[in-house]
Amino acid sequence: MNSKAFHQDTINKILAADNEISDEVNVRTASAPFQAEFPYERDSEAQVTRREFCNFLFLTSSALFLGAAGFAGKSAYDARSPRTFTPAKIDGAMSIEPGSALNFAYPSEEDTAILIRDTDGTYAAFGQKCTHLSCPVYYSQANDRLECPCHNGGFSSKTGEVLYGPPPRPLDRIELETINGEIFAVKREVRGNEG
Ligand code: FES
Repeated sequence: MNSKAFHQDTINKILAADNEISDEVNVRTASAPFQAEFPYERDSEAQVTRREFCNFLFLTSSALFLGAAGFAGKSAYDARSPRTFTPAKIDGAMSIEPGSALNFAYPSEEDTAILIRDTDGTYAAFGQKCTHLSCPVYYSQANDRLECPCHNGGFSSKTGEVLYGPPPRPLDRIELETINGEIFAVKREVRGNEG
């Protein structure tokens, strides 16, 4: 019997052996052609020793620990680092009617915001994401406040403070400046629950 026929014979025996656990020798013999194509460097690689398993656990847990520590360190560093802002003109701000609002973004396109022009002509601006679960808030002229439709949250249109509902903290505050007759956003501040 040539070696190919021998392997096929062994495979057939393994497949035909109902209710029998094929032992390692049979499986290795049957898989010999595949072992030849994808060889092990040494026999001991067929099994993981206790020492190798412990080393593996140590290395993976060390890597996880170092990764988590690095991530926490970077987050703490970022939180302490003062963020720098570039003033950005809010297009169309001067032309909105008192008692109305305008959506814009600051400082990046993802940082949605809302500019409110009060009935007395003064301006205020806040982040547009509700501090509960990030639904967008809108300006209710009838109630002169910012309202979140998702879970009935409400914020002051003058300060961004929570008036009612589930939001846990005020809306982000955006500082404004008038430069050469135009309204500019100059800073965005995430606020905690100072109350
Ligand atoms: S997301 Fe605004 S109240 Fe829930």
